[in-house]
Amino acid sequence: MKFFLDTADLAEIEEANSWGALAGVTTNPTLYSRIGGKLDDFHGHIKKICDIVGEDCPVSAESVAMTRDEIVADGRVLAAIASNVVVKVPTCIEGLAATRALADEGIRVNMTLCFSVPQAILAARAGARYISPFIGRFDDISEDGLDQVQQIVQAIGNYDFTDNTVNGEQVEIIAASIRSANHVTQCALFGADIATVPFNVMKKLVKHPLTDAGIEAFLNDWEKVK
Ligand code: G3P
Repeated sequence: MKFFLDTADLAEIEEANSWGALAGVTTNPTLYSRIGGKLDDFHGHIKKICDIVGEDCPVSAESVAMTRDEIVADGRVLAAIASNVVVKVPTCIEGLAATRALADEGIRVNMTLCFSVPQAILAARAGARYISPFIGRFDDISEDGLDQVQQIVQAIGNYDFTDNTVNGEQVEIIAASIRSANHVTQCALFGADIATVPFNVMKKLVKHPLTDAGIEAFLNDWEKVK
């Protein structure tokens, strides 16, 4: 499983990128507004993220247009920012149509706000390079978000979508709306391709109390043998 960082905060991206295990970044309008971002600066901000992580790391930038033509126009502009930009498009009829058009132009799409197996299969057939089912938001309505994402991973794995995607690349599932370390553990156990993780959860993934205790014991014992 690969780790993406779910944030628009440049300092968080720089820090997580320095750990050596970051494979991509996902942003959305909520995350951009949370750092005080303004619409006029949005494209420049995405460029800064792309520059930090480098061209091998996909950076999802969301289109908030609502019609297929507007999403396609928006997507072309976003994709022109850098070669690693992935256009994030919501899973809906206009989004599917736009995804097909963008994929046919060689532009990679991350279909987001996916909450069911049929939505995920339609996204893959429409040419999405990534599909983002949400865990936490499903939990928020008293459903089992992990179970839903597991079903989507299994269903997508049943078929070959390479005829549908840009350059025949394999579609990958990004487990999103992750709220805890356990979400990440379960995603790895059922084989999600990617987990996109907020920085506060990412920090928790590195830590374990027994690791901390072990380091402290080693340091103490090292003092004794000095
Ligand atoms: O990548 C989607 C994610 O940012 C949504 O997370 O916590 O707002 O449901 P959340």
